[in-house]
Amino acid sequence: MTDDETSNSPSPSRRSLLAVGGAGLALGAAAAGGAVALARSDDGSDMQPAGEAGGAVPFHGAHQAGIATAVQDRLHFAAFDVKTTDREEFVQLLKDWTKAAARMTEGRTVGEGAYGGLVEAPPDDTGEALGLQPSRLTLTIGFGPSLFDKHGKALGIADKRPDALVDLPKFPGENLEKTRSGGDLCVQACADDPQVAVHAIRNLARIGMGKVAIRWSQLGFGKTSSTTPDAQTPRNLMGFKDGTRNIAGTEKDRLAKHVWVDASDADWMEGGSYLVARRIRMNVETWDRTSLQEQEDVFGRDKGEGAPVGKAKERDEPFLKAMKPDAHVRLAHPDTNHGATLLRRGYSFTDGTDGLGRLDAGLFFLAYQKDVRKGFIPVQRSLATDALNEYIQHVGSAVFAVPPGVRDGSDWWGRGLFEQTEA
Ligand code: HEM
Repeated sequence: MTDDETSNSPSPSRRSLLAVGGAGLALGAAAAGGAVALARSDDGSDMQPAGEAGGAVPFHGAHQAGIATAVQDRLHFAAFDVKTTDREEFVQLLKDWTKAAARMTEGRTVGEGAYGGLVEAPPDDTGEALGLQPSRLTLTIGFGPSLFDKHGKALGIADKRPDALVDLPKFPGENLEKTRSGGDLCVQACADDPQVAVHAIRNLARIGMGKVAIRWSQLGFGKTSSTTPDAQTPRNLMGFKDGTRNIAGTEKDRLAKHVWVDASDADWMEGGSYLVARRIRMNVETWDRTSLQEQEDVFGRDKGEGAPVGKAKERDEPFLKAMKPDAHVRLAHPDTNHGATLLRRGYSFTDGTDGLGRLDAGLFFLAYQKDVRKGFIPVQRSLATDALNEYIQHVGSAVFAVPPGVRDGSDWWGRGLFEQTEA
């Protein structure tokens, strides 16, 4: 919103701006324009309408934001181990996290802010996001299998692990590192500004000190998927358009069919989803010495337009039989996998070099689905013969039950799970 647009109306109060930002935005509206964006301030008092790119995505709703939300540019993903054995303390942490998350997605600081409080105490907020826009920050929490198995007794949720929260089987060719896999909890922070995403994870970790500890984390850039079909499809580090055929945030029926958990699952999961995270290393040096023909054969799409083999346009329906039998798209396509369909939301990563002069780069693959037994698992099994395997290796893996959205200011992350269980 520009000054011109607001000049004829009385100055909106911070509360009314938040009301518009919180209730009036449809999924993806922030990206599509028209969002009321709020500038970040430490006590919220000087919030101003700002440009659409920095807008706020509503935190409250039936589903958690960060799944069907138009994909933001940057990622900071963190998996946590639980350290506390005190159920009440853990529940309080979930409540405190929810409160802080809601504030940060609105572009506010945590607690009393980054300065101006007691000089004898460390400030509530670490301060590096002061002056930055909300940047469409979304924070999405997930619960790993070990939360129920390892900590279930202490936390009173031992019998609450959903059947659908399965341990992933071993897949051929993977080389998983323990220190980059698993986790009792995860938080996915997505934002258009990396500093906003990092600030959010850092402050949640800080609030959790002594109760949870970060097990591993991953930064991501250059989104490799699109949940807004009209936007330009981004390219992955292999130079190909990635995310062409995905579930859009506006496709309510497909989201209901393939992404949102329904009443047939555990009660507390209705409206939630299941997340598979895989750190996939790319052998970019080998790939870069591969002919264009081979590269295009590997995916079954051309590098320039992104069109499927034999077709002219990116969005043309793929004709799978025209592709090589081991082409990635042919093997990953729902028609090859009894209709299995994923909402992909991954990011590229480059974490320096590996000591042998090679880039430690690849795809941090994130996929949401109603049931991993009918989503990721069959697709990944089908990819056992993928021509792409010569150029990639899965080195990290985790699966999480992502509970439904936080309904309002009195609700909190995981309330359905913990309120149904006895201490
Ligand atoms: C580094 C690893 C990977 C790379 C570089 C990669 C790249 C691509 C590219 C370029 C496409 C075509 C454009 C598109 O429709 O998005 C594609 C499609 C797809 N990929 Fe991957 N992918 C990788 C890993 C995976 C994994 C692990 C899975 C799931 C287990 C997966 C599932 C899919 C699916 C479902 C499609 C769409 C197929 C269709 O409906 O046409 N990909 N991928």
